[in-house]
Amino acid sequence: MKLRTMQRADWSAVAALIHLSTNYWYETHGRSKIFTAGPDSALLFCRVYEELDPGCCVLAEAEASGQIIGSCFFHPRETHISLGIMNAHPSWAGRGVAAQLLRHIINEAEHRHLPLRLVSSALNLDSFSLYSRNGFVPRATYQDMILSVPEEGVPLPVADATRMRDAQPADVPALCALELEINHISREKDYRYFIENRAGIWHSSVFLGADGKVEGFLASVSDPGSMMIGPGFARTDAQASALLRRELNARRGQTLVWLVPVDRPALVHACYELGARNCELHLAQARGAWQSPDGVNLPTFMPETC
Ligand SMILES: CC(C)(COP(=O)(O)OP(=O)(O)OC[C@H]1O[C@@H](n2cnc3c(N)ncnc32)[C@H](O)[C@@H]1OP(=O)(O)O)[C@@H](O)C(=O)NCCC(=O)NCCS
Repeated sequence: MKLRTMQRADWSAVAALIHLSTNYWYETHGRSKIFTAGPDSALLFCRVYEELDPGCCVLAEAEASGQIIGSCFFHPRETHISLGIMNAHPSWAGRGVAAQLLRHIINEAEHRHLPLRLVSSALNLDSFSLYSRNGFVPRATYQDMILSVPEEGVPLPVADATRMRDAQPADVPALCALELEINHISREKDYRYFIENRAGIWHSSVFLGADGKVEGFLASVSDPGSMMIGPGFARTDAQASALLRRELNARRGQTLVWLVPVDRPALVHACYELGARNCELHLAQARGAWQSPDGVNLPTFMPETC
C-alpha cells in the first residue's frame, strides 16, 4: 500500500469507506450500526474537515488496484494535534493499514513538537491496541449518553436560561482563554467555525457569569452524518448541565449523543434525570503532554477533540 493526501475526487470513496468500516466493525461486534443513513452521510467528515483543515486527511491506497483501503483525518491546533476519524477497510483488517496511517500522523506531530490527542471507543480493542502500542495513554473516561429530545424540550430553569445566549463571533477570544484555563488546549478556528455556521448545521451556546464573562461553551451538530452535542467546556457541573439543556432544546424531536466525564457524578445524574441512557464508553487518549481538565470537558467526534 502507499500513503497519499486525500483529494476532492476521493471524497465519495472515503465516505463509503468510513461508512462501511465503522458500521461493519460495530455490527460484527454485536452492536448497532453507527451510520443509519446511506454512505453519502459520511461525506460530512470530508466537507467539515477539509473546510477546517485542508490537506489533513491521509489515505492508504492498495498499489495494485488503486482502492482506498484506509483513511485518517488530523487537526493541527495551537497546542496539539487531534486525530480522527480513523478507518481501515474490513477486508484489509489486521494488515497494518491503520498502523501506517497512524505512524504518518505521529511523524507530523513529532515534527511540530505537539502532543496528539484523540477520543477512542473503550469497547473497541482493535483501536485501543492500535493507539496503546503507539504510545497513547488513556487519560479520561467518558460515558456516551443518548436521548430522543421530546418535542416540548427538556426542563430549563429560568435562572439558568437568563444566564445563557447563542455564542457570537465576538466571544471567540474569551472562549480561547477559558478553554486554555479549563482544558489546557486552544483551538481558535474550531470555535469560529461553529459560531459562523456557514453550513447551517451547528448551534452553540455560552454561559455567562454574574459579571457577564463567559464561563462555559457548548456546540452541537445536526446532520445525517452526525447528531452530537459537543464540544464544550464549563467551570462547573451546573453550568455544563444548563448548557446541555439549552443545546438539547435547540434540537427538539431529534436523537442526540454526547460524552460526559465519568468522574462528574452530578452531571452524569443530571443526564439520567433528563431520561438519557448510556450507549458506549470512550477514552480521551494523549500521546505526549497531558494536563487533566480544571473543570468540565465535553468532547466530541465532530471534529474529534478531547
Ligand atoms: C480500528 C481499526 C482502524 C484498526 O485497523 P487495522 O488496519 O485493522 O489495524 P492494524 O492492522 O494496523 O493493527 C493495529 C495494531 O493493533 C494490534 N492489535 C489489534 N487487535 C489487538 C488486540 N486485541 N490485542 C493486541 N493488539 C492488537 C495489531 O497487532 C497492530 O499492532 P502492530 O502494528 O504492532 O502489529 C479498524 O478495525 C477499523 O477501521 N475499525 C472501524 C472503525 C473504528 O473503529 N475506528 C477507530 C475509531 S476510535
